[in-house]
Amino acid sequence: MKVTKICCIGAGYVGGPTMAIIAQKCPQIQVTVVDLNAERIAAWNDVDVNNIPIYEPGLSEIVKEARGRNLFFSTEVDAAIDEADMIFISVNTPTKTYGKGKGMAADLKYIELCARQIARVSKSNKIVVEKSTLPVRTAEAIKSILDNTGNGVKFQILSNPEFLAEGTAVQDLLQPDRILIGGDTTEEGQKAIQALVEVYANWVPEDKILTTNVWSSELSKLTANAFLAQRISSINAMSELCEKTGADVNEVARAIGMDSRIGPKFLKASVGFGGSCFQKDILNLVYIAKSYGLQEVADYWEQVIIMNDHQKRRFSGNIVKTLYNTVSDKKIAFLGWAFKKDTNDTRESAAIYVADDLINENASLAIYDPKVSPKKVLADLDYLETRATSVNAERVQSFQNPYQACEGAHAVAVLTEWDEFVTYDWQKIYEAMQKPAFVFDGRNILDKTALEKIGFVYQAIGS
Ligand code: NAD
Ligand code: UDX
Repeated sequence: MKVTKICCIGAGYVGGPTMAIIAQKCPQIQVTVVDLNAERIAAWNDVDVNNIPIYEPGLSEIVKEARGRNLFFSTEVDAAIDEADMIFISVNTPTKTYGKGKGMAADLKYIELCARQIARVSKSNKIVVEKSTLPVRTAEAIKSILDNTGNGVKFQILSNPEFLAEGTAVQDLLQPDRILIGGDTTEEGQKAIQALVEVYANWVPEDKILTTNVWSSELSKLTANAFLAQRISSINAMSELCEKTGADVNEVARAIGMDSRIGPKFLKASVGFGGSCFQKDILNLVYIAKSYGLQEVADYWEQVIIMNDHQKRRFSGNIVKTLYNTVSDKKIAFLGWAFKKDTNDTRESAAIYVADDLINENASLAIYDPKVSPKKVLADLDYLETRATSVNAERVQSFQNPYQACEGAHAVAVLTEWDEFVTYDWQKIYEAMQKPAFVFDGRNILDKTALEKIGFVYQAIGS
């Protein structure tokens, strides 16, 4: 079967970029990305492509090329489902905030709503593709809904998890390490797999397209994120030991990374990992393990989160301790708010938690991030519900200019590894700060020797 019309439900960080690349690489396929969020869709359709809702290097150029040709953004979900022969579900699957599994399990209500809508609308056979990250065996629930509430048409369900990382989404999509497609072992299932393989084969070498059964595919996504996050918690655990022993975590990471069995990637000690995926997916894994009675498996993975929370708290605690045990009414400048560089996404960013701790200590925070709006900074803090909105607004001010953010500050804390931070005129920043002037480098990106020569008291992670 040849796919000619694709619908993607969910125009977020995954749906938007993924579909833009499919549209760019498959001009013969019509791709419609739909979302309930009219504001988001309007931004995707903005005549000025620089205003699309997601910042990713290289993305606006691709949207410009394909939009209106074979890439469309719309709020008309029913119409797009009806037309399509393949439907990607790329909606959010956040951690549950209520009921059974609160704080751990994935909330699948948006997934179920999509399944019910697809069943209600579809008048012809469709392939439904799970693009969202889902607990293993979710396809079973989707199938049950589709088969029991549909119009008698046939559905095939595939799992096709997305491995892109934000900030490098375009590159990751253009040259993926692998594409994973899970499907039924039946003849129809294999045909559906083949239809999706053919879509990716327009730009991905076939030896990088891996096909498995549905359950392996679903579980591989959670496993990949758990392994990646585990490496960060492992190096962060060593960073604390380095600080006590005189070892340098950058040197340790380099030394172990040269072992080809370990490899050099994902060994950067930091203030803690953030992002919408790692914590959510590991909590989900822990919940799944517990629900099968596998307590040791659950405890093993939960430790990755415990270590990450500790690393964030340790960073804020160290700022307070170093500033003579009080930051009350002291100005502390944050360079960076996004959870990593080259994205405007702030979900679960370490900066939010460090800020929350410091506001508890009555600090005054000055925030600069090249891509995050002042409104978003306050919304992130308000979301924690630690204190009244008015108190957050009083304690936190955002700046458009990094030098202004640092002016008069007792300390600068680097929370995101934006490249531009390295190239600042640190002499100028030093001169405008209170003395002694402290720098807490939560990303180990600044030049310790150069900063100390200027006069800063410089502290990095793990040395
Ligand atoms: P997102 O919140 O940015 O986007 C999801 C979109 O789905 C939202 O715009 C929302 O309005 C829309 N939506 C929800 N229910 C809908 C419905 N019934 N009909 C139409 N639209 C609906 O989320 P995201 O970051 O794109 O993540 C989506 C999924 O992909 C999640 O399962 C996530 O775990 C997974 N994932 C994310 C990343 C990442 O880097 N962000 C990477 C790999 C996988
Ligand atoms: C992650 C996975 O990498 C990706 O495959 C999956 O599809 C979605 O989740 P993402 O969260 O976008 O991607 O970014 P990633 O590069 O993994 O970084 C996550 C967090 O870990 C960031 O806060 C980053 O700063 C931090 N990190 C990463 C470290 O602290 N040290 C490292 O060595 C690497």
